[in-house]
Amino acid sequence: MSDLAILGGPKTRTEPYPAWPVWDERDLQAVTEVIRSGRWGGYPYPGPKTAELARRFAELQGGGYAVPMVNGTVTMEVALRAAGIGWGDEVIVPAYTFQATASAPMAAGAIPVIVDIDPNNYCLDPRAAEKAITPRTKAILPVHLGHQMADMDAIMALAERHNLVVIEDCAHAHGAKWRGRGAGTIGHFGSFSLQSSKTLTSGEGGILLCRTPELAAKAASIIDCGRPHALGGGPEDDSQEYQVGGNFRLSELQAALALVGLERFPEQARQREAMAAYMDEALSEIPGVRVLPRDERHTTRSFYRYIFAIDPAEFGVEHDVFCAALEAEGVDCWVGYEAMHRYRLFQPQTSRLAVPNAFPQYFDFQNMHLPEAERACQREAVWLDEAIFRAGRQGVDDAAAAIKKIRQHAEELRKAAQAFREQTS
Ligand SMILES: Cc1ncc(COP(=O)(O)O)c(C=O)c1O
Repeated sequence: MSDLAILGGPKTRTEPYPAWPVWDERDLQAVTEVIRSGRWGGYPYPGPKTAELARRFAELQGGGYAVPMVNGTVTMEVALRAAGIGWGDEVIVPAYTFQATASAPMAAGAIPVIVDIDPNNYCLDPRAAEKAITPRTKAILPVHLGHQMADMDAIMALAERHNLVVIEDCAHAHGAKWRGRGAGTIGHFGSFSLQSSKTLTSGEGGILLCRTPELAAKAASIIDCGRPHALGGGPEDDSQEYQVGGNFRLSELQAALALVGLERFPEQARQREAMAAYMDEALSEIPGVRVLPRDERHTTRSFYRYIFAIDPAEFGVEHDVFCAALEAEGVDCWVGYEAMHRYRLFQPQTSRLAVPNAFPQYFDFQNMHLPEAERACQREAVWLDEAIFRAGRQGVDDAAAAIKKIRQHAEELRKAAQAFREQTS
């Protein structure tokens, strides 16, 4: 019998990794308090829990004016609209990200211009961004991916030279810091998701950090059906004019859950960071595994997912086969997103979306080659769940042991995968 679980052998880890989200009596009490108060929704905006969440979240990230809203996609659309960016404007986005990073500009009427990533951190490559700048470019939307941060020094320098707005997609970067400054406070906006898989969650939700009180007031107005709001995103201010908006308010029930999550967050973040350092060490000993180098300017790392790369030639198998084998060993694992220009959903011929159909020349994906994103997405990248870190040293030891085991039996696995492909093709 094979030693590999995927080929019928014993699993390396039999105990499931800890579930997410975590909750206790405090969550029940917080929700009960909101139910008893009778103020469940988000109107009038901001409710007391939402206002407290805004204050405490800005404190966590170390700056900005926070505007809580329904999710971490609308946050980016609202940021663009608050900055006056809209129809036909170009917004530079990285090729390696969740589709929301490109769909949000389209929802605002802007064109996502997809550029390649830096192989060292899998985030937007500032040199590729620079090459993509045209007179229509209005914003850059870097994504701090998995546990990495984009090179914010280079991105801010570029943005200043070309007078561009920077919106940091921080859906994965709660608590992260660059040279001691919180993610989302370096650009003009920081967009955070509170969706259920995120390291701070209210089930669904999002927070937009704005650099100025004026931008926060505009954002609050856009998400509150256009009602004018006070500077900083404070209460309604009838002395000003309405603008066009929608209802993207966070409910008080969700804000209450996020506030309890914030109490737990610092300890969870400390544990993830300590265990990730231990993981870096364990993985760096395995041939064919590439630990993404740590940029010393990235002073506090956050871990939504821990990303590393395998070199398929040296390791012996490609990342999809590797991930299937690792899952079978009992270690939660994912190959990550598809490269953005390979997504079918934005193709003008298959989507009925206004922006791809109005500007098809930007969506000629067949002729778009972004080699670093393609390599990461198609062959190399491996995403580990943060639950591994919450399982302590044993969690990391088990994951590392499973990876070593797969490496030892890579040749057997490669042959089995090839035979399987031949049978099923
Ligand atoms: C990189 C990235 N940006 C944006 C989002 C969108 O967040 P939400 O699901 O809250 O809309 C996600 C969500 O999962 C994400 O991973």
